[in-house]
Parts: sequence; structure tokens; C-alpha cells
Amino acid sequence: MSFFKYGMVVDGENYCPRPELARQFSQLVESGLNVVVQGERRMGKTSFVHETISTIRGMALVYVDLYCVKTIEEFCRRVVSAVSTLDRRTSFLRRTAQLIANLRPVLTIDRDTGAPQLTVDAKSANTVASVEEVMDMLSAHAGKRRLCVVFDEFQDILELDEADILLARLRAKIQFQNMTPHVFLGSVRNRMHEIFDSPKSPFYKSATSFSVGAINPDDFKKFLSARFKAARRNVSDAALDRILEIAGGISGDVQELCETIWLATRNGDTIGNAEINAGLRLVFAREEKAFGPMLAHLTPIQAAVLKGIARTPSIRPFSGDFMSDCGIRNVGTVTRALTRLSADEIIYEHSGTWRFTNPFFREWLNKR
Ligand SMILES: Nc1ncnc2c1ncn2[C@@H]1O[C@H](COP(=O)(O)OP(=O)(O)OP(=O)(O)O)[C@@H](O)[C@H]1O
Ligand SMILES: [Mg+2]
Repeated sequence: MSFFKYGMVVDGENYCPRPELARQFSQLVESGLNVVVQGERRMGKTSFVHETISTIRGMALVYVDLYCVKTIEEFCRRVVSAVSTLDRRTSFLRRTAQLIANLRPVLTIDRDTGAPQLTVDAKSANTVASVEEVMDMLSAHAGKRRLCVVFDEFQDILELDEADILLARLRAKIQFQNMTPHVFLGSVRNRMHEIFDSPKSPFYKSATSFSVGAINPDDFKKFLSARFKAARRNVSDAALDRILEIAGGISGDVQELCETIWLATRNGDTIGNAEINAGLRLVFAREEKAFGPMLAHLTPIQAAVLKGIARTPSIRPFSGDFMSDCGIRNVGTVTRALTRLSADEIIYEHSGTWRFTNPFFREWLNKR
């Protein structure tokens, strides 16, 4: 068993409470507003939304994950299966099936769990009209209980051939469900902005935006310290600061580093720099296969710019100091290197400075 979880939705003792953020988010959702939740990757958007909605009394969550959805039929299936989790009773599923009769729903019994399950027929559920039917089914249920409908990785809808028409129809349905809050989740590093910020998009300005950033450092440190204690390790405040710094405050990366530190130490140990470095070496050992080729693919100039940013994260790459440090004379050369590095998603811009998408890559470069 591990004391630190990452790469999955966390809850219970693995979830560090975010009370202020939760209060703000609940207010929006309780007043029935549609919300678009954005944040950097691995910050904890999905966990936060699950956790927060579960604490709103009387509200039930319909969670639809659109990750890699490729067809309309798949979209319909995912909505139907999300609705099925609301109530496993056969009577509820029968009623749901009646509401989507044109999609030829079938009620089956899951072989492993014995729970009844609702699926739709592939051929009948592949038109835009089927999407309208599942959305109407959702509103019919919403008339009977308070629902919050969450679409995670919503931008993946753009990958469908019928994306434009689908978004238009979805928007048309959603705007009439004004008692039901709809929450759209996605990372700021992808195409969410095309859907919500482009005047051409049917979803333009259709939802209040809400951002999920880093967990408040004091709250996170308190939480991590308790987890280390449960794992019979002592950790100082300074060590926790260092861990947060290395992982760039990214929740999932912080937990990953804590896990490797835990693996590299024993009961009763106190965590200091040596232990943190031992944990980092485990992270590098897992990722070395990716980091080496990533660096090898770069031109000498791109590598020089990247290493310069790695050394001083607060640096402005167009400053004279930075350029002379990297041995570059020309602003255009820096611009081209930055463009390429960000196109490859190695770094991204954050108010004038540049950050590593993977903070462990930065640390690895600095340690070479
Ligand atoms: N409140 C929290 N307390 C502790 N750890 C958290 C919290 N939220 C997120 N994490 C850590 O971050 C990881 C990723 O969380 P989650 O999947 O919710 O983030 P996300 O922003 O939805 O990520 P993605 O961009 O991949 O969709 C979790 O596995 C966990 O390690
Ligand atoms: Mg997520």
C-alpha cells in the first residue's frame, strides 16, 4: 500500500481539502450556473470537482468522461453509463431505457458484479439525433432530482467528425436546462479555449470560468506532513518547501515525489535533502527513457535555451543576461527555440517566464 497516490482521482484520506475553492465553486453550482473549470495538467481538477459536488447536499453527480471519445455512439454510451450510476435499481434503468427507446437500449447484468447495466445499440446511436435523445433523457431525470452534469476532458469532443454540429446541438439543449448546472473540465494546455473563447463557437461565453490552480502551500504541507507521519516518516517544513518547489506545486507531481521519497526511506527516518535526492533518483530512473531522447532531439541552440530556463526559472529569455549566458546574439534565434520547445510541450509560457511541463525534466537537466 502506498501513502501517496498520483495519476488517479483522489478522495478521502488521499485528498487535501481545498475549503476556500470549494466554497466558491459550490456557490456557482448551487445557483445552477454552467461552469468551465480549467487548470494546468495534474493540478487536481477532476478530484476537486468530484469531491466538492459530493459535499453539496441533495445534489447527484452525472460524471461523463469524454477522454478520447471518437464517435457519437461512444458519446451516447458514456452519457448513458454515467446516468446508470445514479441509481442501480432495475426500475430506474427501465425508465431510462424508455426515455431513449430509439437507441435500442439493452438491459444486461454485469457478469462480474451482478449489477444491472444499460447499453445502447451501436447502429441506432450514431446520429446527432441520438445525442439530443440522451440529453433529453438527462433533463427528464433532472426534473425529478437535483443533478450536476460534469463533462470531463470536454475538448476531446473536437476530435469527432461531427464536432461542430454536435457542439451546436449540445449547446441548444443545455441552455434550456437552466436548473441543472453543467460543468466542463479541461486543461488550459489544450483546445478548451477554442470552445469557450472563440466567438464562432456555440459555447462562446456560455459558462462562467473557474480555475483550479495549485493547492494552497500551507494546506498541502499540513496534509503531506500527516501522510508522512502515517507512513512513519518525519518531515521538516523546509523539506516540504523543497518538495513543493521541485514539483512546481503541481499536485500530482508533488504526490509522485513524496511516494518515491517514501519508497527510498525507512520507518523512523527523517526526510532532508539526501532523502529528497534519493526520491528524485527513483523518479529519474522511471523517466530516463523519456528524458534522454527528448534532449537528444533538440538542436544545440534549443538545448542551450532550455538549460538556461532550467537553471533560472524566473528568467526572461529575451533579457541580455540570458542571451549572453546561452551564447545567443539574436532575439529571433531565442524566439524560434522557444516556439519549438513549446510546440513540443516541453515548456509553456506563464506571464513572461517559462515553465517546464514536467518539473522533473527540469530537475534532471540541472543535475546532469
Ligand atoms: N486535493 C488533492 N489532494 C492531494 N492530492 C491531489 C489533490 N488533487 C489532486 N491531487 C494529486 O494530483 C493527481 C491528479 O489529480 P486529478 O486527476 O484530479 O488532476 P487533473 O487536474 O484532473 O489532471 P488531468 O490534467 O490529468 O486531468 C492525483 O492523483 C493526486 O496525486
Ligand atoms: Mg482530470
